[in-house]
Amino acid sequence: MTTQPRLKLALIGLGRLGAIRAEILAFKQPRIELVAACDTKPGADEWAAANLPASVKFFADPEDCMRNSGAEAVLISTATATHAPLITKGLDLGLHVMCEKPISVDVITTEEVLAKAASKPHLKFLVPFCRRYDESYRQVKQMVEAGALGDIHAVESSCLDQQDPTGFFVRFSEQSGGIFVDMGVHDIDIGRYYLDVKSGLTNPKKQVNRVVAMGQQAVYGELSKYGDADNGWGLVEFANGKILTFHLGRTLTNGFEGMTRVCGTKAHSVINANSTINRVEVRDAHGVRTATTPDAFVLYDKSFLKDLEEFATACLDGAPLTCAPEDAYEAAKIATALQFSFRHGVPVYFDDDGLAILDASKKA
Ligand SMILES: NC(=O)c1ccc[n+]([C@@H]2O[C@H](COP(=O)([O-])OP(=O)(O)OC[C@H]3O[C@@H](n4cnc5c(N)ncnc54)[C@H](O)[C@@H]3O)[C@@H](O)[C@H]2O)c1
Repeated sequence: MTTQPRLKLALIGLGRLGAIRAEILAFKQPRIELVAACDTKPGADEWAAANLPASVKFFADPEDCMRNSGAEAVLISTATATHAPLITKGLDLGLHVMCEKPISVDVITTEEVLAKAASKPHLKFLVPFCRRYDESYRQVKQMVEAGALGDIHAVESSCLDQQDPTGFFVRFSEQSGGIFVDMGVHDIDIGRYYLDVKSGLTNPKKQVNRVVAMGQQAVYGELSKYGDADNGWGLVEFANGKILTFHLGRTLTNGFEGMTRVCGTKAHSVINANSTINRVEVRDAHGVRTATTPDAFVLYDKSFLKDLEEFATACLDGAPLTCAPEDAYEAAKIATALQFSFRHGVPVYFDDDGLAILDASKKA
C-alpha cells in the first residue's frame, strides 16, 4: 500500500475558529500533517498540550513557528489586524499561505498583500469564503451555470448572529473594522459569486456603480463609539445592472441564521431560509418549532474541512483554487465602501478605475 504525501502545515491562532481548525487538521484531514500550533495568549500552550497530538510542536511566537517548525504551509487564524503582516511573513519565508477572511480592514493594505502574493506565483494563497465551500451553495451554483434559474438578476442574503449578553460584539468591534467589513464581506462575496459581475461590462475595471448602507444600534448602544452597528443593511448596484441586498445582524435571539436567495428570471433558489441544526421539528401547542444553529461554525462546519482539502490538493498536486485573491480584494473594496456609507450617511460611487470615491460631503 502506498501512502499519499501529506502537506506539513503550521496553524497560527487558537481562538474560536482556530480551535476548530486545529481539531480538523489534527484528526480529520488526511492530506495534511499538522506539525505546529502557535498562539501568543497565555495558556495556549496548555490548551495545545491537552487537545492536540504530542507530535504537534507549540510556539508562542509566529515568526519562530513559520521559520523553525518544518512547515511547508501556514494557516493564519489570528485576529484580523494581524493577518496582513503574517501573510507577508509566510510568503517571504517560502510558505504556502491560507488565511481566514478578511485580509485586512483597509483596501491599501489588501492591495499590498495581493501584490506580494502575485510576486510569488509558485506559492498558493487562499482566503476562503465559507459559503463557497458549502454543498448547498455549490449545488445552486451548478443550477445557475446550467441556466435552470434563468437570468440571475439579484441576490438577497442575510447573516444574523445570535445576541451575546457578555458584550463580545462590542469588544470585537474595536478591532474588526465594523460589521460591513467583518461580516458583510461574506454576503458581498456570495453576491459576486452568483451575479456574474464581470459580464456585460463596458469598462472591465469597474464592477460596481454605487453602494448604500444603513444601520442601527438596536441592542448594543456602545457600538456607536466605534462607528459600528449591530444591524446593518447594504445595497450594491453592480456595473452590469445586477443588484445585491443584504441584512447583517448581531441581535437574533433564536440562534445564527445565514440565508441566501438567488433571484432568476425563471426561478428563485433559497439556501438556508431556516438555518436548522437538523431536520427535527416539534409540533405542539406553540405550533411548529425547529432548533436553529447556534453560530456560523456549526452552520458551515463542513466548509471548514472542505476549504482545507482544496488548499492541500492545490499545494500538493497543483490543482486550482476556486476562491481567488482577487475575490477577496473586490469584496473588501465594496465592504469598506459600505462601512463608509453607513458611518457618513452618504451613498458611495465607484470611479472608472474601480475604486470607491469616499467623499463624505455628498450629504443631502
Ligand atoms: N466564516 C468565517 O470565515 C470566519 C468565522 C469566524 C472567524 N473568522 C475569522 O477568523 C479570524 C479569527 O477569528 P476568531 O473568532 O477565532 O478570533 P479569536 O479572537 O477568538 O482568536 C484569535 C486568536 O489569535 C491569537 N493571536 C492574535 N494575534 C496573534 C499573533 N500575532 N500570533 C499568534 N496568535 C495570535 C489570539 O491570542 C487568539 O487566540 C478572524 O480574522 C475572523 O474574521 C472567519
